[in-house]
Amino acid sequence: MAILVTGGAGFIGSHTCVELQQAGYDVVVFDNLCNSSEKSLERVEAITGKPVKFYKGDILDRNALQEVFDKEKIDSCIHFAGLKAVGESVEKPWEYYENNIAGTLTLVDVMRNNGCKNIIFSSSATVYGDPAEIPITENCPKGQCTNPYGWTKSMLEQILSDIQKADKEWNVVLLRYFNPIGAHPSGTMGENPNGIPNNLMPYITQVAVGKLPELGVFGNDYDTPDGTGVRDYIHVVDLAKGHVKALKKIADNSGLSIYNLGTGVGYSVLDIVKNFEEANDIKIPYSIKPRRAGDIATCYSDATKAKDELGWVAEYGIKEMCADSWRWQKNNPNGYDD
Ligand code: NAD
Ligand code: UFG
Repeated sequence: MAILVTGGAGFIGSHTCVELQQAGYDVVVFDNLCNSSEKSLERVEAITGKPVKFYKGDILDRNALQEVFDKEKIDSCIHFAGLKAVGESVEKPWEYYENNIAGTLTLVDVMRNNGCKNIIFSSSATVYGDPAEIPITENCPKGQCTNPYGWTKSMLEQILSDIQKADKEWNVVLLRYFNPIGAHPSGTMGENPNGIPNNLMPYITQVAVGKLPELGVFGNDYDTPDGTGVRDYIHVVDLAKGHVKALKKIADNSGLSIYNLGTGVGYSVLDIVKNFEEANDIKIPYSIKPRRAGDIATCYSDATKAKDELGWVAEYGIKEMCADSWRWQKNNPNGYDD
């Protein structure tokens, strides 16, 4: 039996393919490559020494999905496929709701028609909105999202929960990621953003490699120790391993489960700059800019539930995250285009 990994050529998906293969799972990737390169899968194969079955297709395309189920024996699906750029989602809400929500509805329908009712869904800490409590536990109420991307995650959590409630054959795991950074320690796989990065770590690595002149720090007047935004950065390999643990949970007919995947530690923007500089011996020039619309002051997890129920804890520290992000950028200044 194999695991269907939608969006498996992307940043988190490709790292998860490595961990799945190393844990002995057969992997079938389904991706339309709208935000990724097939080369990431070659790198997965080079690391694990095992072939990755790849189907190029869109989760909105029912026939393409059915072909996978006709040809492969799929036990469970890890569903990463989706559009994820916060700013773009404000400009193109229809495209985001169509791709992420209609795409997931199509996927789930094809899955159930083929008797496959195990799904792990990539959710996000963004569903907590401006969180009611810090650190954030899974009991923290969901909040108001500030953009359509966030709403797709919040709505899909509700949709998948309702589907599981109505049909107890479903096992649904909602994984709420905090801020994934880092790259595979081999330096051969990492994040490959299009254009100027929106997220902090790829922006920093592009400053370090000389593609961008300086980092803009969005606000230094938040109610945080140094005034800059605090987040829970998590190494992508730790995150990937969380999915392998979640699959084991599903094998026990777990029903609906929700987990935060974070380290439980918050770092400010300036902490990240400092740690990056120390880990890699590179200076990162920066200047303070106005706050970015939609940003919150502080967001970090309490990940005790994942530890207690999945036996998962994040193992990489911030210095390793910074070193691995840089190794990937340095070795591949143009991502998978090199
Ligand atoms: P990514 O863009 O690198 O990967 C997503 C993959 O999905 C890409 O390979 C893309 O080509 C594919 N895809 C998109 N729409 C598709 C469609 N209609 N059909 C088939 N394939 C499609 O992003 P990532 O950082 O690896 O994120 C993976 C998942 O985790 C996403 O659902 C994202 O929303 C979620 N997530 C990411 C973060 C983050 O900060 N990276 C945080 C929380 C949640
Ligand atoms: N920041 C800067 N300068 C930049 C980029 C970011 O100062 O050039 C700051 C932000 O203001 C924030 C912190 O760095 O304080 C982190 O910002 P990111 O854009 O890297 O991450 P966010 O916390 O805003 O959001 C990310 C994803 C969301 C996801 C969320 C929680 O982009 O999709 O993490 O998982 F929902």
